Amino acid sequence: MPKLFVVNRDGEERAVDGADGLSVMEVIRDNGFDELLALCGGCCSCATCHVYVDPAFAGALPPVSEDESDLLDSSDHRNETSRLSCQIMLSDAVDGLRVTIAPED
Ligand code: FES
Repeated sequence: MPKLFVVNRDGEERAVDGADGLSVMEVIRDNGFDELLALCGGCCSCATCHVYVDPAFAGALPPVSEDESDLLDSSDHRNETSRLSCQIMLSDAVDGLRVTIAPED
């Protein structure tokens, strides 16, 4: 079962259990991090699931799609580690992934 480390906006880190096939957004939301709004439910149209991904995992993640990049551009807080958490699927390949919830836009 892939583990996920989530850092909230107060800088507190918590380890949560994920499951193959769930998105990072679903695991964050299902573990009570209510600061991640994920308003569109994961269909890549809102950017309220913005996270920063530990650069150590950059090579293990699928590339950012054009749609995802366009949405991230709408955030004032985009940086080179930004991703939409609904677009990252959990698997053993990303076991131990660490993400930080980005500031609210
Ligand atoms: S939940 Fe809306 S873009 Fe990810």
